[in-house]
Amino acid sequence: MQTDQLDKAVEYLRQRGMDAPDAGVILGTGLHRFLDYVTDQEIIPYAEIPHFPVSTVEFHKGQLVWGTVEGKKVLVMQGRFHYYEGYTMQQVVFPVRVMRVLGIRQLLITNAAGGINPEFKKGDLVSVNDHINLQTANPLTGKNWDGLGPRFPDMSRPYSERLNQLLFEQAACLNVELKSGVYAAVNGPNLETRAEYRYLKIIGADMVGMSTVPEVIAAAHMELPCAAISVITDECDPDHLEPVNIQEIIATAAGADQKLSKLLQHTIRSL
Ligand code: HPA
Repeated sequence: MQTDQLDKAVEYLRQRGMDAPDAGVILGTGLHRFLDYVTDQEIIPYAEIPHFPVSTVEFHKGQLVWGTVEGKKVLVMQGRFHYYEGYTMQQVVFPVRVMRVLGIRQLLITNAAGGINPEFKKGDLVSVNDHINLQTANPLTGKNWDGLGPRFPDMSRPYSERLNQLLFEQAACLNVELKSGVYAAVNGPNLETRAEYRYLKIIGADMVGMSTVPEVIAAAHMELPCAAISVITDECDPDHLEPVNIQEIIATAAGADQKLSKLLQHTIRSL
């Protein structure tokens, strides 16, 4: 039963001193410099946390980092779980639920995404203003746990307008360009065909990726305000599509990591 598992994971982390965090942060593919801004770090490998799944993708480090950013207590997931790795959606969102029960009051998510909107270029930062869920499984399937949230959660505004406003204010202060767009979530792990990119554009997606939406659905279920930022790692123009190379995607994400991390740091300061 997942509720027992949740209680055990939360109890373990409380015993390790992770009590009353202000915010949770999920770091996406190739994005980890934010940790340079986290002081008083206590690192807990996922494998030590009862019932936590363990990351399988080689470039995702699986650990939870507890620490302080600008006087705020944060829980940072270095490495997330993807549906394409073979986890159930309940496993994918388990850490978000754990962080919520531990007490986070907001969640900041990052990811690497393909740019569908022709105005989006490699290395751009885009604040997610809405999403289209094309994944074939949903973390809320099955018996609803009323203690976490309702059976039919509202999704009219899954991305907090307040958090997005803070992100834009801080981006302006830092002179970092921040765009805004709709994120479409696909299962992966393959990238898309030209016909699929064309389709994604027609249905209103500005970017596409394989993560984030399950976590946002779990957050919305628990009425946890969240915001997500995509780093555009490849340009998905169906008429000039280049074969993508995952190492290039990771390198592009790494190139944008510094500005993204500063933006997160400043946003957390203003929470
Ligand atoms: N498609 C899906 N996921 C992605 C992409 C993409 O083009 N780029 C980075 N993650």
